[in-house]
Amino acid sequence: MLFEPYVLKDITLSNRMVRSATYEKGADADGFVTPKLIALYEELARGGVGLIVTGGAPVAPSGIFVPQMVAAYDDKYIAGLSALPAAVHAIGGRIALQIAHGGRQCYPEMLNGQQSIAPSAVHEPVLNITPREITEEEIWTVIHAFGQAARRAKAAGFDGVQIHGAHGYLVSQFLSSHTNRRSDSWGGDEDRRFRFLEEVYKAIRRAVGGDYLVFIKINGSDHLCCGGLRPDESLRVAQRLEALGIDAVEVSGGMYESTLRPARTKILHKEDEAYFKDTAALFKMSLSIPVILVGGIRSRIVAEEMLERGYADLISLSRPLIREPDLPRKFMAGKDRAECESCNACMNFRRLDTVKCVPLQKLKERTLA
Ligand SMILES: Cc1cc2nc3c(=O)[nH]c(=O)nc-3n(C[C@H](O)[C@H](O)[C@H](O)COP(=O)(O)O)c2cc1C
Repeated sequence: MLFEPYVLKDITLSNRMVRSATYEKGADADGFVTPKLIALYEELARGGVGLIVTGGAPVAPSGIFVPQMVAAYDDKYIAGLSALPAAVHAIGGRIALQIAHGGRQCYPEMLNGQQSIAPSAVHEPVLNITPREITEEEIWTVIHAFGQAARRAKAAGFDGVQIHGAHGYLVSQFLSSHTNRRSDSWGGDEDRRFRFLEEVYKAIRRAVGGDYLVFIKINGSDHLCCGGLRPDESLRVAQRLEALGIDAVEVSGGMYESTLRPARTKILHKEDEAYFKDTAALFKMSLSIPVILVGGIRSRIVAEEMLERGYADLISLSRPLIREPDLPRKFMAGKDRAECESCNACMNFRRLDTVKCVPLQKLKERTLA
């Protein structure tokens, strides 16, 4: 099944493998697409993956969370952005733009001295910052910005957009009872915590129309010791989105401060792989839209099993494709397992000039030198 074509909305993917959204630190300092980034996307497309999701592209300057993200918050970026779908389509691939806002998980140096915004002023322990509560007026500005970013994605030629609703960024912050402590119409109970995402989704649809591929990555669970999104509520979020007309959902989990993060280490055995499979299965049982499974998938056989046993419709990979952008082709040629060691050295964004696979030991040596 893994290598069979799959029709998502009305887009035919050459197989069921997805490159999960992966920030590359590959744009220039102002957020413009660079030749280096175009070359990386060509390499991914040549590597045979069915659908590429870009790294998160901020919809507003207040939502830039790490350096050199590809920006989507101004029309001046459309021309540069269009080079990515052009390159991928020329090779027969498919590509969606992930649109995002960092909220309280923006590195402070990204915000030109401004305090980060979030549903509520809840301290973020990893960055050691406390955001300020976003105002009603700013909420509508960010909702509009999501719609405008989607319009730019469509104008640039992307096959679709993915809302970054996972990992503790702004959309995820609104959904989570841990980060959303509001008592107005944007928080307080499940219905009101969903309102921001509902308005974001509607703004996107208004901007791109009903025919365009719009999907989302969300947390099945925030994996916090106390409070936060849990699978039952997350499923209800997905069901509401399905009723509104969303095209697919990618299931992930965790945020900066979680005990269990989105990109886990020590995936040594097959049993450690596909660590969000149980939530994905729950989603599959209750939804009609396609479910995309991400998180720790390393073996061809596990990927196949996830599809055959009905855990998911599509398999999504991030770190393995940083190390081997041509892994899909290698799987097709019979390779059993990705070489990625899940050491997460590729996530040392501050120390690396660009996101790449660096053996952990080398990174330590480089830092000591
Ligand atoms: C370097 C790096 C950058 C990432 N950037 C994003 C991102 O921009 N958006 C997103 O939704 N997830 C991002 N992720 C998370 C991955 O998409 C994925 O959910 C996670 O790594 C688990 O999948 P894997 O085991 O296949 O790596 C990133 C992960 C890594 C390692």
